[in-house]
Amino acid sequence: MKKRILVTGGTGYIGSHTVVELQNSGYEVIIVDNLSNSRADVVDNIEQITGERPAFEKVDCLDYAGLDGVFAKYPGIEGIIHFAASKAVGESVQKPLLYYRNNLVSLINILELMPKHGVKGIIFSSSCTVYGQPDILPVTEQAPIKKAESPYGNTKQVNEEIIRDTIASGSPIHAILLRYFNPIGAHPTALIGELPNGVPQNLIPYLTQTAIGIREKLSVFGDDYDTPDGSCIRDYIYVVDLAKAHVVAMNRILEDKQKDKVEVFNIGTGRGVSVLELINKFEEATGVKLNYQITGRRAGDIEKVWADPTYANTELGWKAGTSIEDTLRSAWKWQLKLRENGIM
Ligand code: UFG
Repeated sequence: MKKRILVTGGTGYIGSHTVVELQNSGYEVIIVDNLSNSRADVVDNIEQITGERPAFEKVDCLDYAGLDGVFAKYPGIEGIIHFAASKAVGESVQKPLLYYRNNLVSLINILELMPKHGVKGIIFSSSCTVYGQPDILPVTEQAPIKKAESPYGNTKQVNEEIIRDTIASGSPIHAILLRYFNPIGAHPTALIGELPNGVPQNLIPYLTQTAIGIREKLSVFGDDYDTPDGSCIRDYIYVVDLAKAHVVAMNRILEDKQKDKVEVFNIGTGRGVSVLELINKFEEATGVKLNYQITGRRAGDIEKVWADPTYANTELGWKAGTSIEDTLRSAWKWQLKLRENGIM
C-alpha cells in the first residue's frame, strides 16, 4: 500500500512541484489548499504530468475542524509537508497580524492534529531569511539566527521554535526544517510553475514578464553593494531539485533515519549568483534580450547570501544538480506557456 502524505499549499509554486515528485516516488498525496494564491486547475496539470490525480480538499489551515475532517476522511496519513503560508515580505510589513495569524495558527493547528491522527512527521518550509546577513559565507546550519527583517521572516523563525518546543515537550512527532534559498524555474513540461498575483515582487517572474513584454523594464535594485559587480548575490535553486529534497526528507523521517527528532537542512546549491550575472545568464541561455536599468537599493534586501549545502548533501544524500542555464530556460518556457494559454 502506498504511504499517504498530506501536502498543505499543494497547489502553490513549490507545493505543486513537490506533489509531482512525491507521486513519482510512490507516495499517495492529499492536497489541502485554500486557493488563496493558486488555481484549482493545478491539480489537473499535476495529473497530466504524473498520470495520477492527487486528492484535493479546499480547506484553509486556519480551520481546525476542517483540517480535522481531512485527517478523518483520509485515515493513515503518515507525513505532512506544510507549505501553506503567506509569503510576501512587503505585504507582511503592511499587514503583520494577517501574517502572524495565517502562518502561526496554521502550524499550531497541524501540530495539535498530528498526534491525534497518528501522523509521524512534518517537513516545514523554512527560509534562509532566518540567517539575515550572515557573518560567514557560505552559510551553514550552525550560523546564528538574526533578528528578522520583516513579520514574514519572523513567522519562519517563530514557526521553527514552535516545532522545537512542541517536540521538546514530548509530542511524539518528528520534524525536518528545510531552509530554502531562492527557488526559481518551472517543471520541464511547463505544466506547472510560479504564477504570481499582480506585479511580481521576486526577481525571476519580474524578469520573464519583462522579457515577454508584460513589464517595460526590470529594475536592478542597487549596484553599489560590496560584491564583485555591485549587485546582490543569492543562491538560486531549481524548484524541481528543491521538490526532490522534500521526498528524501520524508523518506528519512518515515524510515527512522533521523539523528534527532528535529533536524535542519540548508537547501541550496552552494553557488552565489549576482542579479547582473543572472540577467546575463538568462540572455545567454534563452537568446532573449532583456530591458533593464539599475535603480536604488530595495529596503530590507540582504547584500549576499548563499548556502553551504554540505550537510544536506552528505546526510540527506541530496544535491541540487540542475545548471542555472537549464533552470532559467525552464522559467522562460513557463512564461511562454502562460502566454500560449492566454493566462498572461
Ligand atoms: N531584485 C531586483 N529586481 C526585482 C526583484 C528582485 O533586482 O525586480 C533583486 C533583489 O534585490 C535581490 C534578488 O533580486 O537581490 C532576489 O530578490 P527576490 O525578491 O527574488 O528574493 P529575495 O532574496 O529578496 O527573497 C526571497 C524570498 C523570500 C525569502 C527570502 C530569503 O522571496 O520569501 O528570499 O532571503 F524570505
